Amino acid sequence: MVTPAIPPLYRDADFNGPLSDAHAARLVRDLDSLEGRRVVDIGCGWAELLLRALESEPTATGLGIDLGREAIEHGRANARARGLDERVELVVGDVGAWSGAHADVVVNNGASHVWGGDPVEHTVNALEAVSAMLAPGGRFLFGECFWLREPTEGELAAMRDVPRAQYRFLPDLVDLALSHGFRLRALSQASLEEWDDFESRHARGWEEWLLDHPDSPDAAEVRARADRHREFRVRGARSTIGLAYLSLIRV
Ligand SMILES: C[S@@+](CC[C@H](N)C(=O)[O-])C[C@H]1O[C@@H](n2cnc3c(N)ncnc32)[C@H](O)[C@@H]1O
Repeated sequence: MVTPAIPPLYRDADFNGPLSDAHAARLVRDLDSLEGRRVVDIGCGWAELLLRALESEPTATGLGIDLGREAIEHGRANARARGLDERVELVVGDVGAWSGAHADVVVNNGASHVWGGDPVEHTVNALEAVSAMLAPGGRFLFGECFWLREPTEGELAAMRDVPRAQYRFLPDLVDLALSHGFRLRALSQASLEEWDDFESRHARGWEEWLLDHPDSPDAAEVRARADRHREFRVRGARSTIGLAYLSLIRV
């Protein structure tokens, strides 16, 4: 395992996913009034979306949880710099070992895998867990992948054998959410431009590191990692995997 000091993703990307500023603002708006609400972001990364939700409503409070210590520390520094640290708690922890918390609004964005288990079950696991956390009227912003079209065998192989059954087509993802006690308040998806922007930012740290360290003993492994990331995207995910943002209401 290589551990060279590659720039962290948050140096280049605002969100750890394909999301523009304007789209993030729309997602926060679609949560409706956050007045006095507690927003819980599960698998929050450095919690940028949670911080933007709290910035939109001065009486809202928040909790974010993520396994990544560095990401959480970066989120805490951002919260302090933006005067939000009194209203947000960012916790390093494994969601699988977490007993839950009161939430009026839950965010789980690009992180349905945090509950663990078989990848084929990730979407259901997330819907079940969040459904159990929310009272009727509670809100859930669920950012989850779906198949844009049927992937070919070659594309699945380029994505290192992502199980075909891990994702669904969009109408089936919506139906699955509804079958877990939700109504759909709003729906959008990451654009190709948002994806390309995110993935290019993702690649940047590796490519810069390779330019700066051509003779490092770690170079071959970092190059292989960057190559795998590019192949996954260019030969597989770019034309087959979408990210849907489902704004859901617990019924
Ligand atoms: C693709 S990132 C999404 C981050 C964030 N939701 C965002 O949109 O910027 C997935 C996150 O899930 C976190 N994660 C993975 N397994 C986890 C677990 N068992 N408990 C808590 N967080 C976990 C990772 O550390 C990572 O930050």
